[in-house]
Order: sequence, then C-alpha cells, then structure tokens
Amino acid sequence: MQELEIQTAHSTSKILVGRDLLADTSRLVDQCTALSQPRSVISNTTVGPLYGQALAKELALDPCTEMPDGEEYKVWPQVEGLCTQWLEKGLHRSDSVLAIGGGVVTDTCGFAASVYMRGLRWIAAPTTLLAMVDASVGGKTGVNMTEGKNLLGTFWQPSLVVADINTLETLPERELRAGLAEVIKSAWIGDRDLLDLIDPSKPISDPLWEELVMRTIKVKARIVEEDEREAGLRKALNLGHTLGHALEAATGYKRFLHGEAVAWGIRAVAAIAADRGLLANPWRRQLDAAIDRLGPLPPVVGMDPERILHYLTKDKKSDHSGVAWVLPSDGGVVLDQRVSIEEIRDVLENLG
Ligand SMILES: NC(=O)c1ccc[n+]([C@@H]2O[C@H](COP(=O)([O-])OP(=O)(O)OC[C@H]3O[C@@H](n4cnc5c(N)ncnc54)[C@H](O)[C@@H]3O)[C@@H](O)[C@H]2O)c1
Ligand SMILES: [Zn+2]
Repeated sequence: MQELEIQTAHSTSKILVGRDLLADTSRLVDQCTALSQPRSVISNTTVGPLYGQALAKELALDPCTEMPDGEEYKVWPQVEGLCTQWLEKGLHRSDSVLAIGGGVVTDTCGFAASVYMRGLRWIAAPTTLLAMVDASVGGKTGVNMTEGKNLLGTFWQPSLVVADINTLETLPERELRAGLAEVIKSAWIGDRDLLDLIDPSKPISDPLWEELVMRTIKVKARIVEEDEREAGLRKALNLGHTLGHALEAATGYKRFLHGEAVAWGIRAVAAIAADRGLLANPWRRQLDAAIDRLGPLPPVVGMDPERILHYLTKDKKSDHSGVAWVLPSDGGVVLDQRVSIEEIRDVLENLG
C-alpha cells in the first residue's frame, strides 16, 4: 500500500493506493485521527452489488444506498435524496459517509456531504481508473444541471481516499482505456516518464497499475496543494478538456466516454501547439504515441465543425473574454491561450 497526503488551506486528505484495501476499510479509517467510522455507504446499482454491499456489511451498516447508474443521475434530486436519508439516520456534522464507485457517485455524494449541515466528512473509495486518478483527488464535487455539466459544485476534500486497485478487475475495458487519457494528461504535466509505461493490455494484477495510479495522483496532488481553487496552476489539468467537453456535448454525451473525448482534445491541442511552435516534434510524437496506445477512439469524422464551435463557446472555463485553452508545450503547458476559429476549423478537419 502506498500513502500520500494532500494538505490544503482548510483540510488534509489522506490517499491510500493498494490492493485488498476495501476489506480493511474500518482499520484504515481508525488510523485517521478526526475521522469517525462511516455511518452510511453510497454507491450505485452496478458497483453496489459488486463491492458496496459487502463493504456495508463489513462495516456493520445498513445496506448500501444504490443510486441509479449513469451520468444523468448526477443531479440535484439525488443530492436531496441522500441528505434526506442522512437526516433520517440522524447523521450529525461529526459523522462521516463513504462513497464507493466511479466519478458520478463520488462527485454526487461528495457534493451532498459538503452541503449537509454545512459539511460532513466523507470517504471516497473510487472504483474506476478515472475516479482513482482524477475525480476523487482534489476535492471538486458537484452535480449537473440541464444547462450544463458540474454547474453546481463545491470544493470539499474527502478526508480519506481508499483506492483499491483490485476493483479495476471488473471495470469494462473501454472505461479503463478512457481513464488512461487522464493519466496521460497528468503525466504530460508532471511526470513524462510515465507516458512510456502506459500499456492497457497489462492485466490488472500487474504492479504497473498501482504505479500508474499513484504517480498520476501525485502530479494532481502537488498542483492542488498549490492552487486548490483553480486560480492559476490547477487550470493545467484542463489540458485536452476544452475541445473534449465540446465533443461530448455536441454528441449528446452518447458517442464518447469522457476520457475518449479528452484524448481527442489532447491530440487537437498538440496539433495547435505544434503549429504555433510551442511543441517540438519529438515531444509531440511522445504525446501522440501515448494516445495511440489507448487503442481506437470513437471517430470524430463527419462531425459538424460549426456545432462543435457552438459548444466550445459555451465552455464553463470560458470567461467573458473568450475560451481559455491550455496548450501543451515542450516544458509543460501554457495557460489561458486564445485559439482562433480558423485554427479550430483547421484542426477539426485534420483530426480524423
Ligand atoms: N471531481 C473531479 O475533480 C472530477 C474529475 C474528473 C471527472 N469527474 C466526474 O467523474 C464522472 C465520470 O466518472 P467515471 O468515468 O468514473 O464514470 P462513472 O462513475 O459513470 O463510472 C463508469 C461506469 O463504470 C461503472 N463502474 C464503476 N466502477 C466499476 C467497477 N469497478 N467495476 C465495474 N463497473 C464499474 C459505473 O457504474 C459506470 O457504469 C463525471 O461526472 C465527471 O464530471 C470529476
Ligand atoms: Zn477529465
């Protein structure tokens, strides 16, 4: 088991990465001072039967709460439902809850925890690669609105993150590969040697996975410690996300998994950066090669550039002066870049 702490202005988040950790949750919680044993386990209808129910039993709790499975359930009524249950169970501010699942479960439950009685401690047990390396690290919580993704949200660090690598055994391979896009993003920003280790064909039993997860978390952890509220540096983690979000939205969130859209987004910004002379060829090749290793992505050919442009300008990360892009550079990334419509059209034409 490997351990890491994220220290921010108001809180400390302890992150554990290893194998067979879930069965040991109660003891791991005990080792965190100021964290009490969870009073409720929250999951979804897929992860609950796989891991959540067993965990709730292990912790001698009521059966785990199973949210319906899907991004469309990352919405306010689910938050209210969780809070109502916690009220019925008599949870107080000194209690804690545990979310086990992918980013949808951890974002929703973390958000509910952050607003319940002005803040309840929570534990995240991420079970997708994306949730291990990204969603459960850094304290962003939130739910979607009809008008857009993650429009309601808070910064509320989980007190403890228990990333049990063994849970990836049951994750559909497509989800695993998509999660690797976020690994590539962080590796590019802060641990380039990691890029060459990425190999989705390795079995989950291979030590590679634990190393990938821990090293990716480390990159994000360092950034979050310096800039929890995304005033500057943390924006680097949006690499590939500007176009990625637009691709997801333009296809009604049906064609691409988030990571797949981000993978296209990274390819696109690499092309733009190379054109601008920000990214030398050897670096671009290393980045493209890492994305190649994810395997085939759902195609972007045939997508209407105007429709994508429409969604680009609605990006949450855009302020009134336009969309702020993150571009890869030889040494890392450059933030707050403006990209012209011509450049975007050009890159969209050449992407497929
Ligand atoms: N808070 C943040 O900083 C942050 C960062 C990145 C993404 N996110 C959010 O995370 C969400 C995406 O998360 P995700 O990619 O984990 O998707 P997800 O939560 O929808 O999980 C993907 C699918 O895998 C299933 N699943 C999860 N673990 C499994 C396992 N071990 N075995 C079998 N099936 C399993 C889920 O039930 C679901 O069907 C988005 O809502 C995104 O906005 C948040
Ligand atoms: Zn992402």
